[in-house]
Amino acid sequence: MTDAIRFLMCAPDHYEVDYAINPWMEGNIHRSSRDRAAAQWQQLHQVIKDEAIVELVEPAKGWPDMVFTANAGLVLDKTVVLSRFLHKERQGEEPYFKQWFADNGYTVHELPPDLPFEGAGDALLDREGRWLWAGYGFRTELDSHPLLAKWLDMEVLSLRLIDSRFYHLDTCFCPLTGGYLLYYPPAFDAYSNHLIERRVPAEKRLVIAEPDAVTFACNAVNINDLVILNQASDHLKRQLAQVGFRVRETPLTEFLKAGGASKCLTLRTTEPVLLDHHATVAVESKTIQLQGHLLDSGLMNRALDSIVENGGSFKVLNFDLGTERQSTSQAEVRVSAPSHTVMEDIMRQLIDLGAADLPAETHDAALEAVPQPGVAPDEFYVTTIYPTEVRLNGRWVRVQDQRMDGAIAVTQTADGAIARCKLLRDLNPQEQVVVGIDGIRTVRNPESRAQRNQGEEFSFMGAGVSSERRVELVVEQIAWELRRIRDQGGKVAVTAGPVVIHTGGAHHLARLIRDGYVQVLLGGNAIAVHDIEQALMGTSLGVDMNKGLPVRGGHRHHLKTINTIRRCGSIAQAVEQGVLTKGVMYECVKNNVPFCLAGSIRDDGPLPDTQMDLVKAQTDYAEAIVGVDMILMLSTMLHSIGVGNMTPAGVKLVCVDINPAVVTKLSDRGSVESVGVVTDVGLFLSLLVKQLELLTSPYPAIATV
Ligand code: ARG
Repeated sequence: MTDAIRFLMCAPDHYEVDYAINPWMEGNIHRSSRDRAAAQWQQLHQVIKDEAIVELVEPAKGWPDMVFTANAGLVLDKTVVLSRFLHKERQGEEPYFKQWFADNGYTVHELPPDLPFEGAGDALLDREGRWLWAGYGFRTELDSHPLLAKWLDMEVLSLRLIDSRFYHLDTCFCPLTGGYLLYYPPAFDAYSNHLIERRVPAEKRLVIAEPDAVTFACNAVNINDLVILNQASDHLKRQLAQVGFRVRETPLTEFLKAGGASKCLTLRTTEPVLLDHHATVAVESKTIQLQGHLLDSGLMNRALDSIVENGGSFKVLNFDLGTERQSTSQAEVRVSAPSHTVMEDIMRQLIDLGAADLPAETHDAALEAVPQPGVAPDEFYVTTIYPTEVRLNGRWVRVQDQRMDGAIAVTQTADGAIARCKLLRDLNPQEQVVVGIDGIRTVRNPESRAQRNQGEEFSFMGAGVSSERRVELVVEQIAWELRRIRDQGGKVAVTAGPVVIHTGGAHHLARLIRDGYVQVLLGGNAIAVHDIEQALMGTSLGVDMNKGLPVRGGHRHHLKTINTIRRCGSIAQAVEQGVLTKGVMYECVKNNVPFCLAGSIRDDGPLPDTQMDLVKAQTDYAEAIVGVDMILMLSTMLHSIGVGNMTPAGVKLVCVDINPAVVTKLSDRGSVESVGVVTDVGLFLSLLVKQLELLTSPYPAIATV
């Protein structure tokens, strides 16, 4: 027996599953046997007493989980950090444990009242004493880790638990003598698994499978080469034997019903202390501000969710709820992350949601030179559709040419710095690029409640996808908006796919162009070929558009069409030469509506007008949409996504497709400015033309709608 090793235990006199604060307790309330629990506890007590000294704390009536002394606190040498239980069901244990530690000569540290930490259940020393592994995610708050580091003067490695069955670190993670580690990797997030793999060499990691995990094999007491646990599979026993451990099984089924086993039932009070360790902790925190219709728009939820999903933690310091219908809210949130890398990931998302650093904590944006033409420095900030500002030389500078998926390039001029969004391929070594997360903010325009409310003016209901019954209502709104934009000399772009022609929409789209509702047309080779085939021969890909039936030898029509236009030289020349006399492309030429046709690998021909250099085609598209007010995306996924990427926030998007998945994908810009319409595009266009015809009285009759 090793005299030096001591454990604290608490007899199960008042043990009972009385409530459910973890998944194991659910369904087990009042289902454990007192007698069996007592017998199992006695046996564990005996097994440990054979190897070490066991001290006992008096059980307190009314606190059934007090048997789980691992949660009393975290002990190192003669210092203890007392637990702050998350659940009120266990908070009453705190004074009893505190008393025991005080009576036994420990220096007791207490965390602030609202900072949960559940002791050795969530904090496990490396068995060589080199560092402390600390869990968070369920019972313990990440912000407690820096205090542990400080009080114990030791490095703390934060691990995030993600499976509620393994709510305490000691349920799925067990450091063993000699630097070995018994653990269940799926209980941790990817970042934590990386951290574990960096610290523990592969040959020392004993990974267990789910069947052992759920019988609490990791919840083991390790004394030198002995591993005491509830139960282990033969495989696990062999695994442990191979690296020199003896296994002692002692059944603890009654305690499993409360979500604990041997480790939980004990607290080791003699932990190896290394003299040369020092407090370090990778946990970072910072305070951000959020502003806007934080509740109504779901912004608050999204921000808090993204913190947690990325492995961080938060505390809302201030929440100034706008009480009037129109007033905005304001929040200050303290964000904590287990490392700088995680903090950067979180902040990038928060910036995109409109979060900003507190003014006092704001720094200039970090810049790095373009390392080679067309390549950004690694840590470049990826732009969004939202208006963005960067802080340069202490001043906020608006980024020009806003679009998503670019980098922010900065050039210094005599009048100060200029920042603009650029595609990676367009970066040149004279420029610097914004990197990291400092000094960047996106400006979210808090749309008023009225704008968001359906039925008022043109509402583009919050990125909604309309079902059939809403189609007509939406079409009506789009018609109003088209009319308004036209009358105000605005600009509408249309992206259209060949389905527009197949579904009989050519005629309607041609009409929209003729009537001045469309200022630019974007598509590919196919829409133009099908449209012209229909104009020249009445078929679309060989199908008679009036009868809906394939025409004999119709498949040739497609190539004959291409050949005809090639002979003319271009679509415009075909119109000039009187060869092409109707249809979508004809109307474009006749009404001076520019069009860009972007080629693809599957194009036949192509038409002389089709731009087969895709980089050039993207540039043409981007130029074509400068200053648009609205884009109608008609059944063409790729061209529409391409256009969406280059469109800044503030442009209304209408996406029409029969496939809901396409509509959702396109209208999900996290903004209220896009609306999806799931319907046949031909039908949509015919309804739209009809609506526009009804609007004979001039705008602003809309004010009365
Ligand atoms: N019922 C207790 C709880 O949910 C079980 C604690 C188990 N202790 C542990 N260190 N894992 O808090």
